[in-house]
Amino acid sequence: MTTDHQADIQHVAIIMDGNGRWAKQRGLPRNVGHERGVEALRRTVEACRDTGLSYLTVFSFSSENWKRPAAEISALFGLLRIYVRQDLKRLKEDGVRVRVMGNRSGLPDDVLSLLEFAEAETRENTRFNLNIAFNYGARDEITQACREVAKQVEAGELKADDVTSEHVSSALWFADIPDPELLIRTSAEYRLSNFLLWQLAYTELVFVDCLWPDFGEEQLLNALNVYRQRERRFGGLSTQEASS
Ligand code: IPE
Ligand code: IPE
Ligand code: MG
Repeated sequence: MTTDHQADIQHVAIIMDGNGRWAKQRGLPRNVGHERGVEALRRTVEACRDTGLSYLTVFSFSSENWKRPAAEISALFGLLRIYVRQDLKRLKEDGVRVRVMGNRSGLPDDVLSLLEFAEAETRENTRFNLNIAFNYGARDEITQACREVAKQVEAGELKADDVTSEHVSSALWFADIPDPELLIRTSAEYRLSNFLLWQLAYTELVFVDCLWPDFGEEQLLNALNVYRQRERRFGGLSTQEASS
């Protein structure tokens, strides 16, 4: 099912939050919430693709999530392993290109090679793009971009006074991906938690009460409807004001 009204939006980013609370409400261990979160991710990837979007970027493990107990961290890594192992074949067949954004140096070797394998296996796919932000922090991303630009200056390729926001943009982890038009955060938390700080400069933010394990096509379509009712002015005037 491809709907025509999706032409206005290509890229949705999601902060998948609330797995722990979902489990707690049911008297279950937090890890069960994370497991159900993987199912929600599956549903959401399919819904985004069927809706005609081109990119989905999901926040799956933040650079701050290392503060959690070791057992929970290893469970989250385990789930990523399971997701890639179980879903890669289908993602590949469905034309999904998988990319991972984040700091790769902190990851266990087997996780890193699995992620690199998923990227290599799906490199030629063009139907849909799934970007997994794993061990990701926007400040890390922007800092490494600044480092790249500083190196160009140091090498004499660029003058410090000539540095523009395009130089920084193009040194980000995925420079070729358009900024998200819509960010969804689940679980009634109203902050960005160090996600895509550069790319979200003019993104429409939609915060929903639904806990991540309960998210799916219906919640996605609702958020897209909220997005469509927004007026994006980018610092200009509303269409009405501009013509009066
Ligand atoms: C989101 O759910 C998953 C990750 C952050 C990895 P949480 O684990 O943050 O769930 P809550 O916020 O404690 O409910
Ligand atoms: C943000 O959720 C990170 C991910 C969803 C991966 P958190 O649950 O870690 O964020 P805070 O701590 O509530 O800000
Ligand atoms: Mg949380």
